[in-house]
Amino acid sequence: CGIVGYVGAQSALDVVIAGLKRLEYRGYDSAGIAVLADGELANAKKAGKLVNLEKELVGHPLPAGSTGLGHTRWATHGGPTDVNAHPHLDNSGRVAVVHNGIIENFAALRAELAGRGHRLESETDTEVVAHLLAERFSATGGGLAEAMRQVCRRLEGAFTLVAVHADEPDVVVGARRNSPLVVGVGEGENFLASDVAAFIAHTRSAIELGQDQVVELRRDEVTVTDFHGAPADVRAYHVDWDASAAEKGGYDYFMLKEIAEQPKAVADTLLGRIDASGLLTLDEVRIPAAVLREVDKVVIVACGTAYHAGMIAKLAIEHWTRIPCETELASEFRYRDPILDQRTLVIAISQSGETMDTLMALRHAREQGAKVLAVCNTNGSTIPRESDAVLYTHAGPEVAVASTKAFLTQLVACYLVALYLGQVRGTKWGDEIEAVIRELSDIAGAVDTVLETMEPVRRLARSLADKDTVLFLGRHVGYPVALEGALKLKELAYMHAEGFAAGELKHGPIALIEEDLPVVVVVPSPRGRSVLHDKIVSNIQEIRARGARTIVIAEEGDEAVVPYADHLIRIPATPTLLQPLVATVPLQVFACELATARGNEVDQPRNLAKSVTVE
Ligand code: G6P
Repeated sequence: CGIVGYVGAQSALDVVIAGLKRLEYRGYDSAGIAVLADGELANAKKAGKLVNLEKELVGHPLPAGSTGLGHTRWATHGGPTDVNAHPHLDNSGRVAVVHNGIIENFAALRAELAGRGHRLESETDTEVVAHLLAERFSATGGGLAEAMRQVCRRLEGAFTLVAVHADEPDVVVGARRNSPLVVGVGEGENFLASDVAAFIAHTRSAIELGQDQVVELRRDEVTVTDFHGAPADVRAYHVDWDASAAEKGGYDYFMLKEIAEQPKAVADTLLGRIDASGLLTLDEVRIPAAVLREVDKVVIVACGTAYHAGMIAKLAIEHWTRIPCETELASEFRYRDPILDQRTLVIAISQSGETMDTLMALRHAREQGAKVLAVCNTNGSTIPRESDAVLYTHAGPEVAVASTKAFLTQLVACYLVALYLGQVRGTKWGDEIEAVIRELSDIAGAVDTVLETMEPVRRLARSLADKDTVLFLGRHVGYPVALEGALKLKELAYMHAEGFAAGELKHGPIALIEEDLPVVVVVPSPRGRSVLHDKIVSNIQEIRARGARTIVIAEEGDEAVVPYADHLIRIPATPTLLQPLVATVPLQVFACELATARGNEVDQPRNLAKSVTVE
């Protein structure tokens, strides 16, 4: 899941462990490290958190060396045990490899290696790579990079690999297909990592590796080729956030910090994108206006929290542009036979830009001629690279596994895309749009107001720590907000939580209501579409009559809900379509506080990973 490689003058052990700590947020269940010292390779690995590995290193220190690699693993093939942890070595103990992704033809390769007398000890697909590398290294004499190229040509699936060989003590080699790998370029030292956070304390100069490339790192040299040895084009860039952006800054958890950063993240995502006359200038959307004018269908693909942003985006796009829009889970979309053509605009939403299902969905769409616009938070990641255009959300690094500020900025970016589509297509905009643009500019302040009034929400969360189930209801934009509230609770509090469209209540979910069951209801603005509002007020009465404990999120001044709310959470008034930007925030705080009250790990919930680069 997290990979770090280092060659330089510092202690590889220290650099790699510190780097792995910075990548902890990605989620993992075992960790390991290897260093080259005095012509030998030494390694240590341990199931569980990094502290277990650190304890092991205190008991059994590794010799000091300045070339090394490390890994935090999220189990796919084989459980999270010491043996299955990375790095994996060949039988001679001279090659060490760490790996992200899945090697699909590993069973065949394993059988082949066994036939040639190799003894494979773990159940992982990675170990076969160590053995293949050792074989190729001895056979070709062309060095580790050449061995890596030859091995990569034989591998199927998605992988990022980093390897060292005791016979080449000043070299670290990496290879990339699909899963991310970034080079950090220092002075007399170089780094490799799955994410810039791992080396940001040392350098802000980075090179992103492209698809099917192999990189050889020496202290003063970085050489990148394709899998056949031809020199490859690479893009160097400057990382524009510093180390403190990836630290907790006084908060107990990254998630709390990221929740608090939301007003700024929202403002940053709007910055420079709306001019004084209310026109949108989305320079990064490099799909020509003529092409956007021809678009007759929009399809949004995403996973997890980003999918909920997509559900809300659908409502905004259809309402403001009148272009039919559908939102689909990337994992479903990629395995069916969707109807797309050159006039379809596909929007792929992803915080990390690395989610495998979303990546595969966008490839599926492009194969059929559709144009793809990525909405992404990670500069240089795979999804924007493979898209026709990208609109970056400017949330800054999001470290907690459960997404918060990235979600709000995804919403902002999607609203901008919707309004932009309307603008280039010359949609007749009435007063509503002007008001929306004005309100969008004020929305960061509204999010701030919500954050200042969260103490009662925290108290309420603590009082519900013993409950087994919480339900969430909403209509229209409130429905995805309800789903997001339930997702946050599952992720963080490990509670049974479900979100429903309030209109569906009578078709089943109402049977779940029993005495004192907490039900959170997201109430739309009474202004604008009052039918929606009135319907949900009836729904609140229906569940309350059956004993539910109602937790009502309603806009300031909405008096109609007061008699039926056991707990009332106020949010600032906004236009209906923008309400998720303020209504989601209390649900994030609620889930975070419940997780803390239940003694759960907030930033790294069990079994989850921040960036899911496997299928
Ligand atoms: C993982 C994370 C979620 C996230 C989802 C999509 O499951 O735990 O928080 O919403 O992936 O990630 P993406 O990076 O594509 O937005």
